[in-house]
Amino acid sequence: VSKKDELGVGLLGLGVVGGGVAKVLGQKADLFARQAGCVPVLRRVLVRDPAKRRPTDVPVALLTADPRAVLDDPDVRLVIEVMGGETPAVDYIREALEKGKAVVTANKEVMAKHGPELLALADKRGVDLLFEASVGGGIPLIAPFQRDLIANRITSVHAIINGTTNYILTRMAVEGLEFDAALRQAQELGYAEPDPDNDISGRDAAYKTAILASLAFRAVVHASDVHYEGISRLAPRDFRYARELGYAIKLLAIAKEEDGAVQARVHPAFVPDDWLLANVDGVFNAVQVDGDLVGRLLFYGKGAGAMPTTSAILANVMEAARNISAGRRNARLRLDAQKSIKPFDTIETRYYLRIWVPDRPGILAQIARVLGDRQISIASVIQKEADPDTQSAELVIMTHPARESDMQGALGEMGRLSAVTQIGNFVRVEA
Ligand SMILES: NC(=O)c1ccc[n+]([C@@H]2O[C@H](COP(=O)([O-])OP(=O)(O)OC[C@H]3O[C@@H](n4cnc5c(N)ncnc54)[C@H](OP(=O)(O)O)[C@@H]3O)[C@@H](O)[C@H]2O)c1
Repeated sequence: VSKKDELGVGLLGLGVVGGGVAKVLGQKADLFARQAGCVPVLRRVLVRDPAKRRPTDVPVALLTADPRAVLDDPDVRLVIEVMGGETPAVDYIREALEKGKAVVTANKEVMAKHGPELLALADKRGVDLLFEASVGGGIPLIAPFQRDLIANRITSVHAIINGTTNYILTRMAVEGLEFDAALRQAQELGYAEPDPDNDISGRDAAYKTAILASLAFRAVVHASDVHYEGISRLAPRDFRYARELGYAIKLLAIAKEEDGAVQARVHPAFVPDDWLLANVDGVFNAVQVDGDLVGRLLFYGKGAGAMPTTSAILANVMEAARNISAGRRNARLRLDAQKSIKPFDTIETRYYLRIWVPDRPGILAQIARVLGDRQISIASVIQKEADPDTQSAELVIMTHPARESDMQGALGEMGRLSAVTQIGNFVRVEA
């Protein structure tokens, strides 16, 4: 390759994903030469600690802890950001775009919090900002929403987009494990971080939901617009009852557009057994999309890991390289800033309630009254278990669709009833 056919690349981060990108980029020179007319060549790689021993064959001379070595190099025309975290990553991306460098990033947090601002900047500077790896790892999602599904009015997106929590929920469902035991197992296998809060709280999925909802509904959806709840309050009995009722329990990312308002939320949900999503197990991810023309689609695959994520990043590098060769850039999806975000307490959904009550007559009438006062109607009630020692019984109630604020009010009031020993759990039910 002659010097002029080289595309200088700066890599920010050489961890799980950066290591994969660095390894494969060099192996794909022929592919890039043929398909893009230029060959990406690593010029500098930013890390925190250049002295650390690393399982990669990146020449040590390329490593630097100085971001200036990457951002000030005029021969770096494309920056791949795989360092993670909000800052300083967002500052480096902004500066690279300002300087007219194309950027490929895997950073969901940055795109969920600063996506619209950064995309506008990329527009202004006439360069690409591509982020396929930020949601769903190796699963193509960003490009399909921007391109292949553009003629559709998307009505809903239901997604399992956090592999760690899906692994934990699968173990709880299959082996009847308590949450803590399933989490420990996931940590031992390297599927959960030593500090797992970002995943199990639903925050990681919320970032991805903001990105997906923006693209699906062409709306400005920020990370802070996404209500999220985690999985730690689920118990093995919830999985047992769900199964008896014909559901799986998944941490679902849900985004819908109704009457010009977008709702985006992440929480555990009952998913009907006859949805393919109910059978997406272990660390796999899946995204179900409903569109007015295409009907129902399901994207399924590995949502994380060095090689799947590298697959998405290199696709973006190819796109940017082709555009740089041709002196153009991608057309950008236009977002409608007028679309409103539906407040979480106004959503309507069905609910599963598990309640411990004293084992005596007249109890159900009192519970039905609390629900009925708030226009929540009961679809079915099953008495699951009676405990002779405590003289209490466990009721499982499925409701018809109700408003979230009404259900929260009812749960509060039931908690104060002498007819309720304890609210075991509540889980929202999809479809
Ligand atoms: N892991 C996955 O499967 C996956 C999948 C999809 C998307 N992503 C996203 O990809 C990004 C990277 O994830 P990862 O798992 O590869 O992370 P990682 O293994 O922790 O690697 C992070 C890398 O960035 C470097 N770094 C971090 N902060 C830095 C700073 N302030 N200055 C200089 N260098 C810094 C680290 O340097 P040292 O090596 O010196 O510590 C390390 O090489 C994240 O945004 C993540 O959300 C990851």
